[in-house]
Amino acid sequence: MQVRESLGLPVNFKTSEDGNSFVVDQQPSTEFRHTELSIVRLSSTGDGIGVDKLEDGTTEIVVVPYSIPGDLVRAKIYKKLEYYSLADFEEVISGGQARDDSLIRCKYFTKCAGCQLQMLPYEKQLLHKREVIVRAYKYFCNVSDGVIPEIGDTIGSPLEYGYRTKLTPHFDVPRNGHLPAVTPIGFTQKGRSFVIDIEECPIGTPAINAEYKKERLRVRDTIGTYKRGATLLLRESMEIDETTKETKKAVCTDSKDIVTEYVNSYRLMYPAGDFFQCNSSILPRVTEYVNTQIKLPLSSNESSTVPAPKYLVDAYCGSGLFSITCNDSVEEVIGVEISPKSVSFATSNAQDNNIANAHFVLGDAAVIFEKISTPPKETSMILDPPRKGCDSTFLNQLLDYLPRRIVYVSCNVHTQARDLAYILSDRRGLKYRVNSIRGFDFFPQTHHVESIAVLTLED
Ligand SMILES: C[S@@+](CC[C@H](N)C(=O)[O-])C[C@H]1O[C@@H](n2cnc3c(N)ncnc32)[C@H](O)[C@@H]1O
Repeated sequence: MQVRESLGLPVNFKTSEDGNSFVVDQQPSTEFRHTELSIVRLSSTGDGIGVDKLEDGTTEIVVVPYSIPGDLVRAKIYKKLEYYSLADFEEVISGGQARDDSLIRCKYFTKCAGCQLQMLPYEKQLLHKREVIVRAYKYFCNVSDGVIPEIGDTIGSPLEYGYRTKLTPHFDVPRNGHLPAVTPIGFTQKGRSFVIDIEECPIGTPAINAEYKKERLRVRDTIGTYKRGATLLLRESMEIDETTKETKKAVCTDSKDIVTEYVNSYRLMYPAGDFFQCNSSILPRVTEYVNTQIKLPLSSNESSTVPAPKYLVDAYCGSGLFSITCNDSVEEVIGVEISPKSVSFATSNAQDNNIANAHFVLGDAAVIFEKISTPPKETSMILDPPRKGCDSTFLNQLLDYLPRRIVYVSCNVHTQARDLAYILSDRRGLKYRVNSIRGFDFFPQTHHVESIAVLTLED
């Protein structure tokens, strides 16, 4: 939108309900054309956006993966959409100032769809991710000036590579039964739907990569037994010998296996196939941050002694990560979760960690308010929904309940910005003040950013 604006082109984009994509009225057309173009922006999906000057004097906007502002690149356009075209990256003719190709650690970078930013120094990745949040709020949260505070700096991951404690490589088996000489096992090629063979993934932990090697051999040896393709599961689990206190990293490959994770002094267990955050190195920073936000005094007045809320409702609580790590800030925690397995693990995780003030309710977050009896003025609420964000049924009930503080943790800042606009534009939510918004980088080298927004209901 910014690029089109700067070129004086129309920007009347419609977005899909989940805020993730633009709705286009025109069917895409196939167009194959090689071109050289300058990259002027980096999109929220981590792709370069370039302006292609055509011979007839018109300009076309082209999305070129693996490129950054300042690059002059060769690319092959393969699809024309209503507002822009998509291209395959071919090569860098001259690199932008920020590009440092010596940082690239994966030989499949520019083919695999997993990472987008390996050529960008880490501090610049963090600045870019802050910009993604700034733009998400600019374009998806249409509220009065001054309501959204300046976006804070993005907090980095202690590990920039070797951090992913979960990998899910896959392979396809042709339906006609004619197996290729070597079945590719790995990840999807950028812009395509087929799998490319990838032996290791440098953002995966060393333990995950070691087990992945074995799994690849096992699949290759037994490939004739597969009627269709499959996705492999690799999930790192921490084991501590209770007597010697020595730690060992194991890797679970069955979705029913039980994974153990330590976050500071808390031990959390969950089934390998269920949701859990996949970068352990950043979890102490994130959970301590969320806990600090819950403890903040209620008034913006520095000398205020009005204490923080006594109760915490952790909607979308999973196996209890925030309920457990933030329990010491409040008198009582109520976790809500739609997955029965996660609720049962959240309950046993609280027991294992000797936490008596947390209990967990099975249910849809959209209808939990009738089960919550804590006084809203003394209740903080953590929202950590899936990528699609909160639905309007949930947000309307939240606006009837009006918790004193909201800590909204999101893996999709576009739906978070949309949801904040819903809350802040409703007359019931007018008294919410947005205290802060900042990103946490759970996935270095990729375009993803987690965003945490904190809101307090003023008197
Ligand atoms: C992004 S995860 C967060 C989990 C947890 N906060 C954590 O960090 O481990 C979202 C969780 O919401 C749960 N969930 C999805 N839809 C839900 C709904 N309608 N009501 C309650 N929980 C839901 C999922 O099962 C998942 O555990």
